[in-house]
Amino acid sequence: MVMWTDGPLCYGGDYNPEQWPAQVWSEDVALMRQAGVNLVTVGVFAWSRLEPAPGRYTFDWLDQVLDLLHGGGVRVALATPTASPPPWFSLAHPGALPVTADGIRLHHGSRDTYCAATPAYRDAALRITTALADRYAHHPALAGWHVHNEYGTTCHCEHTARAFRRWLTTRHGDLAALNDAWVTSFWSQHYSDWAQISTPRATQYLPNPGHLLDFRRFWSDTLLAAYTEQRDLLRAANPALTITTNYVLGDWVPVDHARWATEVDLVAVDHYPSAVDGGAEEQTALAADLARGWARHAAHRRPGSPPAGGAAAWLLMESAPNQIHTAGRMHTKEPGRMLRHSLAHVARGSHGAMFFQWRAPVGGAERFHSALVPHAGPDSRVFRETVALGAALRQLSEVRGSVEAAVALVVDAASGWALRHPGLPSALPDYHDELAAAHRALWRSGYACDTLTPGDPVDGYRLLVLPALYLIDDDAAEWLRGYVDGGGHLLVTYLSGVADEHARVRLGGYPGALRELLGAYAEEFHPLDAADQVRLDDGGTGRIWAETLRLTGADTVVSYTGGVLDAMPAVTRHRVGAGTAWYVSTRLDDTSYRRLLDTAARAAGVTTVCPDAPEGVEAVRRRDGAASWLFLLNHTDHEQRVPASGVDLLTATPIERAVTLAPGGVAVLREHKG
Ligand code: GAL
Repeated sequence: MVMWTDGPLCYGGDYNPEQWPAQVWSEDVALMRQAGVNLVTVGVFAWSRLEPAPGRYTFDWLDQVLDLLHGGGVRVALATPTASPPPWFSLAHPGALPVTADGIRLHHGSRDTYCAATPAYRDAALRITTALADRYAHHPALAGWHVHNEYGTTCHCEHTARAFRRWLTTRHGDLAALNDAWVTSFWSQHYSDWAQISTPRATQYLPNPGHLLDFRRFWSDTLLAAYTEQRDLLRAANPALTITTNYVLGDWVPVDHARWATEVDLVAVDHYPSAVDGGAEEQTALAADLARGWARHAAHRRPGSPPAGGAAAWLLMESAPNQIHTAGRMHTKEPGRMLRHSLAHVARGSHGAMFFQWRAPVGGAERFHSALVPHAGPDSRVFRETVALGAALRQLSEVRGSVEAAVALVVDAASGWALRHPGLPSALPDYHDELAAAHRALWRSGYACDTLTPGDPVDGYRLLVLPALYLIDDDAAEWLRGYVDGGGHLLVTYLSGVADEHARVRLGGYPGALRELLGAYAEEFHPLDAADQVRLDDGGTGRIWAETLRLTGADTVVSYTGGVLDAMPAVTRHRVGAGTAWYVSTRLDDTSYRRLLDTAARAAGVTTVCPDAPEGVEAVRRRDGAASWLFLLNHTDHEQRVPASGVDLLTATPIERAVTLAPGGVAVLREHKG
């Protein structure tokens, strides 16, 4: 297979020629050439233009577009348009329209109006996929397939309920096991027949946590099956093409991205920070570190492909060239941010930078979403930056290898899902927020950080951080024990290890799965009001959560001070085997969290990427054997000097002692070997 990662860094985005008259296409290709665009996703929502009536295909326009792109040297990731079935489909198959948890059947009028468990939808999706594969699998423009778009919708229809029951029989074997796993003795929920089980629809009061969790797992598997059946068909048509789908990130997404990573040829993620300022950089870094973690997770599991260097490559499949629509308005990116954010992704292993979208449309729901060619046309700041980014990516063509990190966050989708249950001791803890807080603390101090899935190899990591890893099964507990016994340093935060894989509470004190390892356990939780905080004896504060901890071998590092927890341990450290296990029983304020992680990292012998980088300058190193490249990103609005040496690839300038970064500026140094 010819992987995209074997070629130049990918540059381009979603291209929707079906929204434009043919005369615009030639201009598009000319502008793409000018910008250095080399890969576009074509036809991602073009189903009704490709199949205007059942079984009647209109491929002429796509033939022309692909030929034009090929003539212009632009490679194509041809999309299967299955994320937006045409109106005729919904009319013919009203039973394939999705049903919400409230039992409301949604109607056509937007996109994603299908149920992925419904045979009529799956069949229609395979038919259009087959038609595309038959016609284009060997088209010279094709670099690969972009299956669907952002799998992430859910459904509660009868087809789904039937599929859920089938899935449950495979998972649990018999009803006794299911009843045990879901603790149905509570509230008279015992099931005596599979037919009694429905999807977790809206109900009177709190739903069953095991039921909810299994539904999430089932739905991730269902969407994955919808993906893999398209993939297998496309693969059979031409085994040489890269096949992937673009992940949508968010804690609402019912997809276990780590598990999916083993089924895509290249992990591809869409990333839209929730604002362009106030944290966009740290959100970018976390998203990219997650993507690399999923790619590495898959590489470890694929026989024959070593996880070193390029095997952990991934691709930023969508990002916004300019405005981000969030919190009720568009946030405009200031000049330079598109380049800086794109390079933040490339620094962390993305094999390029792709955007939504190529050209801003005249109508449609997302007419004001940003584009590389904006409504103003190519004589615009955004298009000039588009051209500049294309040039920058070409200058970085030699960069390879991966980030080398000695610190890793342990991440698990199911823990995030379980923590969304409304019956937890507090509604305040938010899994993504917990991950982000730990990652932010490491990012601000300048540590390179990987993300791991429980069970991944831990060689080379000196410090593992477990933010709110709520579900820990026996294997994961053993994996962590082995890591610490072998000399690893582990930092665990509250709400980790409280429950088993079925979301059943582990008895004997929290966190049941890690009690011995931590040499401490919580007898009681003390969730806090949103406005409250607890004080700590090192001057710091905690919020959201606190605990009554009892020590069984650990030392107190920081204590609560004042209130009912006065003088009780808040942060503990346990030396066990050859390693150390820390426990943090509250959500530390950012400064304290950073200080604690710094202490833990230094104790573990971990150093930052660029110890002399000033605050606000992000430093990321990619390494491939003896060669290394240092990305320096100035996120401040003033000039910064960073001690470093090498050759700045973006300006082809040798750097002897220090590089000067303009406000918001970037440099990528090929470092001297040795
Ligand atoms: C993405 C999606 C695109 C477009 C974009 C708008 O999540 O895949 O199709 O909707 O958001 O920002």
